[in-house]
Amino acid sequence: MSDLVVRAEGLRKRFGRTQALEGVDLAVRRGTVLGMLGPNGAGKTTTVRILATLLRPDAGSAQVADVDVLRHPDRVRRLIGLTGQYASVDEDLTGRQNLVLIGQLLDLPGRDARRRAEELLDWFGLSAAARRPAKTYSGGMRRRLDLAASLVGRPEVIFLDEPTTGLDPAKREEMWGVVRAQVADGSSVLLTTQYLEEADALADEIVVVDGGRVIAHDTPEGLKRRVGGQRLLVRPADPARLPEVLKVLDDVAAPGMSAVLDTATGSRPGAATVPVTGDAVLGPVVAALAGAGVEVTELGLHLPSLDEVFFTLTGAPAGGADYDTPTTAKELV
Ligand SMILES: Nc1ncnc2c1ncn2[C@@H]1O[C@H](COP(=O)(O)OP(=O)(O)OP(=O)(O)O)[C@@H](O)[C@H]1O
Ligand SMILES: [Mg+2]
Repeated sequence: MSDLVVRAEGLRKRFGRTQALEGVDLAVRRGTVLGMLGPNGAGKTTTVRILATLLRPDAGSAQVADVDVLRHPDRVRRLIGLTGQYASVDEDLTGRQNLVLIGQLLDLPGRDARRRAEELLDWFGLSAAARRPAKTYSGGMRRRLDLAASLVGRPEVIFLDEPTTGLDPAKREEMWGVVRAQVADGSSVLLTTQYLEEADALADEIVVVDGGRVIAHDTPEGLKRRVGGQRLLVRPADPARLPEVLKVLDDVAAPGMSAVLDTATGSRPGAATVPVTGDAVLGPVVAALAGAGVEVTELGLHLPSLDEVFFTLTGAPAGGADYDTPTTAKELV
């Protein structure tokens, strides 16, 4: 039995003129979580769909638990759980009925199917909604039911494609707990995400993908070392004060780094961030901002955004032309 429960080598896939995968290599070690971190269009879903037998690559090979994905897709399907299979959930059935039905389809005895359904409903915070038809569920509830459905059969390998996108922070943490519980239960996980925070929280190893290629493969610790660890983010109440904020942050920057405007995808504009070496900088920054009379609405340490990860790894923004390069204090004044 191989220690590598998922292996992919040289996966290539083209859709019309789009070369979605340019030769992806990755491996998931048994009993671990591999995080696949990348921006929109990086090729995450395409990779997962190939590994889950839903899509044939143009070139390359893949095995799940030593079973060849291209030659024995039916055998692979029995080994995996996959989210995003909305077809598996019936809109008119309740959450509980859906999970019990899937258990029965998987040949679990009725009692076991019901027990597994209750366990999953409880884990995913769906017990109160268990008697409601799936079509009445909110987006977040639906996502959780979907994930629960993929876990009914205690799959050996679980593919989670951006499992927490669109969930609020509390539900995100809950989902992380569920993923950890699955791993403790013996499953191995390939998880795609756009958040370093999430990969850091869950993954044993991370591959960073961009433009259909793996551009880095590291442990969370190693990756954080490479991208400079924590950032201090400051959001002034008045965006007009940003030039002053950038100057204050420049003074506490880690060696060789400078403060930039925060361009993180999806975040509100109007903040500045700087790589720092520890939380000892917080006091001086607060004092300097207070001294300058700059009122702030947000100030905190966080891991790099995906944009920052890419900028550090490649010297270029993720996904090429869609992003602006970070603006430094010098360019603003
Ligand atoms: N069925 C398809 N037909 C045409 N183009 C496709 C198809 N599926 C994916 N693509 C393209 O292939 C590239 C990779 O897409 P993919 O969905 O794998 O990215 P992703 O990393 O999952 O992105 P996201 O974070 O937005 O989910 C993108 O340019 C996408 O537009
Ligand atoms: Mg995707």
